[in-house]
Amino acid sequence: MYLYSLSVTDFKYLFNPRHVAVVGASHSEGKIGYTVLKNIIDSGYKGRIYPINPKGGEILGKKVYTDIFSVDGEIDLALIVVPASIAVSAVEACAKKGVKFAIVITSGFSEIGNIDAEREMVEKAREYGMRILGPNVFGIYSAVPPINATFGPSKVRPGNIAVISQSGALGIAMIGKTAEENMGLSTIVSIGNKADITEADILKYVFNDDITKVAFLYIEGLENGKEFMELVKNKPDEMKIVAIKAGRSKVGARAVASHTGSLAGSDKIFDAAFKQSGVLRADSLEEGFNWVATLAACPRPAGNNVVIITNGGGIGVLAADACEKYGVKLAGDMELLKRTFGDVIPKFGSYKNPVDLTGQAGGEDYREALERALKDDNIHAVIALYCQTDMTPLEPLMDTFLEMQKKYGSKKPIIYSLFGGEGTAKLLEELKGKGIPAFEDVEDAVSSLNALYRAYEKKEEGKVENIEMDECGIRRVIQSVAEEGRRQLLGTEAKEVMKAAGMDVPPFRVAKSINEAVEAAGEIGYPVVMKVVSEDIVHKTDIGGVLLDIDNEKEVVEGYEAILRNCKQYAPKANIRGVEIAKMVPDGVETIVGATTDPSFGKVLMFGLGGIYVEVLKDVAFRVAPVSRREISRMMREVNSYPLLLGVRGESRRDIDSVADAIYRIGILVNRFPEISELDINPLVVYEKGAKVLDARINIEVKK
Ligand code: ACO
Repeated sequence: MYLYSLSVTDFKYLFNPRHVAVVGASHSEGKIGYTVLKNIIDSGYKGRIYPINPKGGEILGKKVYTDIFSVDGEIDLALIVVPASIAVSAVEACAKKGVKFAIVITSGFSEIGNIDAEREMVEKAREYGMRILGPNVFGIYSAVPPINATFGPSKVRPGNIAVISQSGALGIAMIGKTAEENMGLSTIVSIGNKADITEADILKYVFNDDITKVAFLYIEGLENGKEFMELVKNKPDEMKIVAIKAGRSKVGARAVASHTGSLAGSDKIFDAAFKQSGVLRADSLEEGFNWVATLAACPRPAGNNVVIITNGGGIGVLAADACEKYGVKLAGDMELLKRTFGDVIPKFGSYKNPVDLTGQAGGEDYREALERALKDDNIHAVIALYCQTDMTPLEPLMDTFLEMQKKYGSKKPIIYSLFGGEGTAKLLEELKGKGIPAFEDVEDAVSSLNALYRAYEKKEEGKVENIEMDECGIRRVIQSVAEEGRRQLLGTEAKEVMKAAGMDVPPFRVAKSINEAVEAAGEIGYPVVMKVVSEDIVHKTDIGGVLLDIDNEKEVVEGYEAILRNCKQYAPKANIRGVEIAKMVPDGVETIVGATTDPSFGKVLMFGLGGIYVEVLKDVAFRVAPVSRREISRMMREVNSYPLLLGVRGESRRDIDSVADAIYRIGILVNRFPEISELDINPLVVYEKGAKVLDARINIEVKK
């Protein structure tokens, strides 16, 4: 018996075990315990395999051990395939035996509320340093040694793609799909209930396993989004990550008081987090598979000049359209194109990109054009299109494609799109079978090439530097609100916080009498805005609690009386703390800057243009805080209405830097004061020079 005082952290024993046991290996064909054992044997696993079953005997020619302790030798990995009622004791026995990892395939734990048993299982394992994958998983496939310890399809092609799935059933289906698509896997694993090992543990291993080039993730949710982001941001440069995130349609079901909170569905935050950390998010499984196949097969493009070579004008135009849609840059240097392709196309063809070899092109024409494109250092990637015609015998075409692939495939990305009948389908299959990125639909080909470009995009992250703010002032306001037992700051308190954070807030005062109001307006300077100050009145304008453009003392007096009268009539029980007198500022472009708190990712920032752009069109962008100025610039440009800040229809350009500065400050503010749970600056009015906070809302959550 081996005893461990520390948990096993070397995951090579999980992915590359020297000897394995199947606890619950069944004598009956059709049972999971039988299939797992059979798959391990069929996968050509070279280590020792110990089937464990109290009945003893032999299964699939292997001697069966009646319990784990009768195995005389080390076991790195045990597959647990006994019912939940005995799984905990089976795990404990493995741990006592000194097994390093247990994969608990058994269902019936926390996913059905059986939390205590799951916890007990992990505790028992930890006592002896054993780690647990699962429970409720389908097992593991790993290309090295190789081992297929799953109850999924037996045939898995080894390769450089790691599939990590939060869904077991989908994971099993993906084993079949990758085999069907001839995609080679370095590993495929589901993480089930994540009682011990999480996706982060698995990612850490595959990032450094020397085989995996692309990680394909299926994610439903993450407990610790920040940790995931950090891990992914620090991955090796050559490692690519494609993710499918389920739940686009779900909007966060949290009770939120701010615009930012209500617009920040968890899915949008995932979107932002993926962008920030360089994960390519695919919209569908099919798109994900297309991208993964391309990333796994293609080298880094040396530049942006892409050439389309086609035998059909129509499909060429479709490809060019798709390039525009996805932002794939076509080589446009006519000199280069003429020089390279001028004499390989017929007179009625075109050397302009798309390079149209015309319908009469055969394998030789394709070879000539492709070879020239692939040899030329000024052309960095090629999209080869083929529409089936009787003029092009398929065999020589296939020979050409394979030859080009062999000669240049590891140096330059070549993406194929073949469209036509039975023959083309076969050709497509053959190419895919050889791990070459080939698609029927030209959109898929271009979208995949775009994914390749994005995967290699080097994003300068930029630093988050400290900025001075009046922290004491901010703390004072928050503390006084908390002491009153309130969770929402008054508008005037929120503006105090904004001022202390270094924002430009037009002068304001709270008047508790007509005299104070007159005095304040005189000091601030006309025109002013008057607004009731009350935590009990949310929609102040609707009840006549707000007056604009107050030009003189008389209007202040009348305004004060009117506001109090309206409040008395429409909100008789409201606690009125006074009337805010604020400087009325000229119109500008209204924006909204906000922050909210996500349970997984923590503080999240939002930016959008005000009014209908936010309220109706939901045209906003998010980022997980804190964010560098560089990332803020990307975030702002992501908003569709952003050009309004650049000046349209004769309007002048607005002070974009001031907006960026406001977002930057809010990012730092909410990180420094985590008790700020939600925050809206609405509007932040942007001028040619400067941006002013006209109104703000802040919610706090102070831990007692
Ligand atoms: N040690 C070892 N073997 C034992 C022990 C023991 N202490 N006690 C019993 N066994 C043997 C049994 O005798 C049996 O062998 P036999 O068929 O030769 O008699 C074998 O272990 C299996 O036990 P069964 O009681 O027959 O259990 P069964 O195979 O029906 O179910 C299983 C076990 C598969 C673990 C089941 O409980 C289960 O959880 N199924 C769901 C699995 C699943 O879906 N996981 C998630 C995958 S991902 C997804 O979502 C698809």
